[in-house]
Amino acid sequence: MKQSPMGIDIIMTNTTENITKNSAIGVFDSGLGGLTAVRELQRLMPHENIVYLGDTARVPYGTKSRETITKYALQDFDFLKQFGVKLTIAACGTVSSVVDPATLEAEGLYTGVIRPAVLAAINATKNGKIAVIGTSATIRSGSYKRLINEIMPEAEVYEKDCPMFVPLVENGFVGRDNLPCTMIAREYLEPLKKTGVDTLIMGCTHYPIIADVIGDVMGDGVKLISSGGEAGRYASELLRENNLLSDRETEGKVTLYCTDSVELFRENAVHFLGELDNAEIKGCTLE
Ligand code: DGL
Repeated sequence: MKQSPMGIDIIMTNTTENITKNSAIGVFDSGLGGLTAVRELQRLMPHENIVYLGDTARVPYGTKSRETITKYALQDFDFLKQFGVKLTIAACGTVSSVVDPATLEAEGLYTGVIRPAVLAAINATKNGKIAVIGTSATIRSGSYKRLINEIMPEAEVYEKDCPMFVPLVENGFVGRDNLPCTMIAREYLEPLKKTGVDTLIMGCTHYPIIADVIGDVMGDGVKLISSGGEAGRYASELLRENNLLSDRETEGKVTLYCTDSVELFRENAVHFLGELDNAEIKGCTLE
């Protein structure tokens, strides 16, 4: 096992000769949230092939036990492994917080979302006060706070779990005109606003889809950090650092797998990726 100079939540084990520059990037999440990472990957590296898995039949993960989340994450990881991916991104704050990457038998690179988001937040904050929102499992794990204080011991970190946000996003209850979404956001975030933070980590990859609603409550002075988006940026650096960027000249292929209805996935994925002209969507089972 090798640790990247960039961070502790990266492992690289026995990169086999099957893995080449033009192998795909694998991305997984409990549902649609990880598409916020895919969007950034596509923006930065349009020539890369991407295989995505959204475990929509079992979403949400964030309300489940550590054992269940770990079991699901290993199945997600193994599903992507069959494509010989050169890098796997756990584009899920919950999995990144709960699952020890050493338990994954990675054949390529691996990253979660915690370190990328934390580095961006530390870079952004001016007053050293950082808020973290995420699923209950993520906040319970203390993963973001721990890493922030490891790198910036003087930082004041305020955490809040927002368990209703994932079902809202998965069901398309998004946007400023959506009353349930705006009311729940006010309920969760107004106490955080009062702490005087200048930076907020959206520690669950679903949350950037309601960044407008979150931003309205937090106000203009608070910089919002997308854990999915930052993981996408971090991934491109990782590939560059390991000389694994694709040299393909044509546009990369994006294949999206989901474990529940393909039609529902397509309907809601539009909020994340816009029109899905160049993506193929397929159903799959994991058990
Ligand atoms: N996108 C996942 C995360 O970042 C959602 C978790 C869930 O399914 O509850 O945490």
